[in-house]
Amino acid sequence: MKKSKPLAPLGSLIWTLLGAMVVSLSSLRAQDNSFGRQIDSLLHLMTLEEKCGQLSQISWQGVSKLGALLTDEEQALVRQGLVGSFLNLSGAVPVAEAQRIAVKESRLHIPLLLGVDVIHGFRTIFPVPLAEASSWDPDLAERTARVAAIEASAAGIHWTFAPMVDIARDPRWGRIVEGSGEDPYLGSLMAAARVRGFQGKGLLDSTSILACAKHLAAYGGAEGGRDYNSVDISERTLREIYLPPFKAAVEAGAGSIMSSFNEISGVPSSANRFLLTDVLRGEWRFNGFVVSDWTAIEELQAHGIAANRADAGALALNAGVDLDMVSRIYQQEIPNLVRSGRVKEEVVNEAVLRVLRAKFKLGLFFHPTRGCTPERETTAVLTKDHLQTALEAARKSIVLLKNDRSVLPLSRHLKTIAVIGPLANSKSDPLGPWHCAGKPQDVATVLEGIRSHVSSESRVVYLKGCEIEGDSVARLSEAKKLAGQADAVILVLGEGENMSGEASSRSNIDLPGVQNELLKAAIEAGTPAVLVLMNGRPLTIGWAAGHVPAILETWFLGVQTGNAVADVLFGDVNPSGKLPVTFPRSLGQIPLYYNHKNTGRPFSEKEKYTSKYFDSPNTPLFPFGYGLSYTTFFYSNLTVNRPKIGMNDSVVVSVEVKNTGKLAGEEVAQLYVRDVVASVTRPVKELKAFRRVALQPGESKTISFTLNPTELTFYDLHMKRVVEPGFFKVYVGGNSVDGLETDFEFVAN
Ligand code: GLC
Repeated sequence: MKKSKPLAPLGSLIWTLLGAMVVSLSSLRAQDNSFGRQIDSLLHLMTLEEKCGQLSQISWQGVSKLGALLTDEEQALVRQGLVGSFLNLSGAVPVAEAQRIAVKESRLHIPLLLGVDVIHGFRTIFPVPLAEASSWDPDLAERTARVAAIEASAAGIHWTFAPMVDIARDPRWGRIVEGSGEDPYLGSLMAAARVRGFQGKGLLDSTSILACAKHLAAYGGAEGGRDYNSVDISERTLREIYLPPFKAAVEAGAGSIMSSFNEISGVPSSANRFLLTDVLRGEWRFNGFVVSDWTAIEELQAHGIAANRADAGALALNAGVDLDMVSRIYQQEIPNLVRSGRVKEEVVNEAVLRVLRAKFKLGLFFHPTRGCTPERETTAVLTKDHLQTALEAARKSIVLLKNDRSVLPLSRHLKTIAVIGPLANSKSDPLGPWHCAGKPQDVATVLEGIRSHVSSESRVVYLKGCEIEGDSVARLSEAKKLAGQADAVILVLGEGENMSGEASSRSNIDLPGVQNELLKAAIEAGTPAVLVLMNGRPLTIGWAAGHVPAILETWFLGVQTGNAVADVLFGDVNPSGKLPVTFPRSLGQIPLYYNHKNTGRPFSEKEKYTSKYFDSPNTPLFPFGYGLSYTTFFYSNLTVNRPKIGMNDSVVVSVEVKNTGKLAGEEVAQLYVRDVVASVTRPVKELKAFRRVALQPGESKTISFTLNPTELTFYDLHMKRVVEPGFFKVYVGGNSVDGLETDFEFVAN
């Protein structure tokens, strides 16, 4: 690539060039090479400082001041071409002003790239991603991401730092709430769906926003579940567990990737050339750009692999990080590193090209504000359709964990219903962490939902009972009394919105504060009871599971929380969610996940010398894939269409599912396989397919899954992806534990 040239009077030349781009834009798709030449020419005009400016992102200072514009310092950096991107800048007016300065008042008129964390909705807040994963409905995830993009783009945002696709096996880790749980297959489908939703029909569409799959990689593998902590895993675990959702996001066309804070076995991701160049670009052919996480480049010094900021910048840039989020190292250190020969200008040029390519693909050179206006910004949000999508998503994200004696659904004609708990009438907690432009005023609380569902002769009494976190037990006796006077008691307990998400790991995952005591007090009354959980991670709820007849896992469901919870409580909706994560019985079992290895001494009740605890079963409280319904489903006739398959064959697995209850319902039938003998140890089960099936009472359906040999591959001793001859067990059922079993043989051709 050519070196940058000294400045020349450029105004008319640049506008001619940009004008040429506008002309070619209309044929962008067909003439990528022409775009390449033009961007190359623009690159040729840039000084080294301007190039490094394009690789620098700073956080907008006005984020807390509604409608604020760029500060004087921010404006100066934009005019000098020393910053090419902002995060947290949104709003039609601030965006238009910022782009005006960039395009009209800088030397090269390059538009800004503006990113925000639009994680589970912009203003219409949807269920948190872990909740949405409980729907096991990738199409739904695509639709909610699409709505989020429509609303965010109306506010001038054209890049989201989402989907978060980190696999999480440790519920102590607060960011488990932001992803799709513990399974690579479910996580991959949800990752791809969200990328499609955000990016829509194509990035030139003004309602599309650039997706950013994060945080590459294995951030969820933090030791102790402690955020930002070290990750030490094998390459096989990295490739088989943590990387698949990122690969799926890349294959779905994700335009950007975010490198993570953590190290992987000694190498921080943001300085990890193996990850960011060899795998991401070499193996996966990723052609977007990589942005670091917030000051992750600067943190290479704290990691102890960079002696100073300059070293950190050189390491990150040479590893494959294109855009520096917030640490200002690329802007302040890279020019001198290039001049001293420590960093090749070609490396800088490649990174600049990737960023400029994204701006071009978004149409920013052609239309820097992409049609955002104050009017569109207000009319595009919280529309009837968006709220309906949010209600559907919330309903499908609810998991029925227990329903003894069919306590649920409740009659809406009960004389008195007691609603107790610190989350029952919270307007803000249901939004969950990372709720972007979401507002508490938009939320239907659980109490409001219940009140809107019961009949006029029913009386709903409410008591907060205790704080989410706190030790006051002053109201527990009142709670017991209130429950005793009611025909049913609904307890709404769990975590605050800020107890999960970033920097929110917990060393204890019980119900916080004195909520368990509140629960016990209410249950002592002996009234039929329902526990509604509102939380961002699996909790150790052993006492509740043993004493409360009905339990609903609702996570954080967003603006439609109360309406969806009430729909399920009173039977307007039959719950169909399934857990995307394992619920351990105790902290001591962690990490506990379904796709574990068998070991040489697998658990045996009778045998002492096997892999188990002296004081606890190995089994979880609730397993991955688990979720009940108000009806029941029966599986039968599990068959394979052929006992043997070769490399060019596929096997069709069929099963009959019958609704054996009295209510219509939907079941998510799940298919797992086990490679019985292989050259390396294999998990006891791996999810390979699932299907949501709707059945009327008494109705049966036969569903079929087709498995190809490519879905049976794994990384062998030489880290080659292979499928080996031998038997594969097949399990099909309504969760990862119960189900029918059969097998087939894979034979080498
Ligand atoms: C945060 C998070 C990342 C987020 C970024 C910008 O530290 O780790 O997920 O996208 O900074 O807010």
